[in-house]
Amino acid sequence: MKDIEPIVTSTGEVGVSQRSFNRIYYNGERLVESYDQLTDSYQSLSEQMDSSQEISRSVVRVVATKDVVRETVLDIDFFKQIEVLVPVSCDKNEWLMVVAKNKPGRDTNRSLLTMVSETEEYTDFNKTFPQRLRDVLGQGFNFSSEIAGFEESLLEIWGETFGWSLMEIYNLSHRLRRERFIKKEDKTVWFSAVKSGEDIIAAAMAERLRLPIKHGRYIDLVESTEWKTRKASEGRHLMTAALINLNCQILSDLSDEIGSNPFIFAECNFTTRSDRAAHGAGFVIPKRLTMGVFVPQILKQNVAVVDGREPKDGLRDFTFVCLPKDSTDNLYSRDRVDEVLRAVEGKTYEYSSNL
Ligand SMILES: CC(C)(COP(=O)(O)OP(=O)(O)OC[C@H]1O[C@@H](n2cnc3c(N)ncnc32)[C@H](O)[C@@H]1OP(=O)(O)O)[C@@H](O)C(=O)NCCC(=O)NCCS
Repeated sequence: MKDIEPIVTSTGEVGVSQRSFNRIYYNGERLVESYDQLTDSYQSLSEQMDSSQEISRSVVRVVATKDVVRETVLDIDFFKQIEVLVPVSCDKNEWLMVVAKNKPGRDTNRSLLTMVSETEEYTDFNKTFPQRLRDVLGQGFNFSSEIAGFEESLLEIWGETFGWSLMEIYNLSHRLRRERFIKKEDKTVWFSAVKSGEDIIAAAMAERLRLPIKHGRYIDLVESTEWKTRKASEGRHLMTAALINLNCQILSDLSDEIGSNPFIFAECNFTTRSDRAAHGAGFVIPKRLTMGVFVPQILKQNVAVVDGREPKDGLRDFTFVCLPKDSTDNLYSRDRVDEVLRAVEGKTYEYSSNL
């Protein structure tokens, strides 16, 4: 969700910052290679939170080595604070960790166990990606990867729900346009909308954080965010299709010749079960039993979303999802990505039975 700093979303901002919804946040700027470094960051944020009346959630989001994760697993008290833990590289040497602490009173809307059990199973895919897109096109909608000319329509759906201003939408729109002229591997932001005539009906965006690892290597963490479908059009698989299109754009830009992919992830509002749209686009919840311990893969009371559900205007819990290598290999092959992008750009879809 959008934050109070003058940036597009929270993803690109590294270091310590005080954020919207009474949070203090540390977004790691480099690989964490020592356990002490991790616990020091956590301790320091917790202390800042404890000494402030205003702050009620502290969050450390870093990428750490496998050795640091192994050590963390042994420290039972510290481990309990881990909300998300997932490998971000194919060799599983680097792991994304979200370690957080909420003050008493900032409690989940539903019990953690309920949320975990309700997100354990999903219905099988009953349509392929091409069919999903074809359905949406067949209903008379179009797709767009640009905002220019539609800023006010986007404000109608992002303004109230996520707190965007018109100026911030114009900034994003300009940034998207500027990035049309840079090398695709340097892109930092993507956008996907389903449109009906002059109106944006559903929209989502993604932003990249490039994290240096060792020996000149880096990991691209891409957060897919700001998912919103107009109320009257919910449940028609518009968000699912918008996310498929968004993933295809990102993979087309950032995947390299040897099949190495960015790490695409999202934090899904449990109240609206946006994890279901995520599932439809190939996202999965990372394993909850990892290195012999349980990790909920749920961010507790992270931010508020004005989603029209109860509790009104309240904070929400978020299920963490990502696009693992299995999904990219099976669902987003290079041919399929190209096919989807050609189809949405050309606004027609030739169904090919071998997809
Ligand atoms: C979450 C949201 C974006 C979903 O958009 P959508 O266009 O209705 O999503 P889709 O139609 O693609 O839904 C896909 C799946 O989710 C299911 N679904 C949608 N809303 C649901 C709900 N409230 N409860 C349970 N399932 C739901 C659909 O039945 C569908 O399931 P299926 O694929 O098994 O048939 C929309 O509800 C919304 O804008 N909510 C308010 C803002 C918000 O919470 N955004 C998410 C921020 S992370």
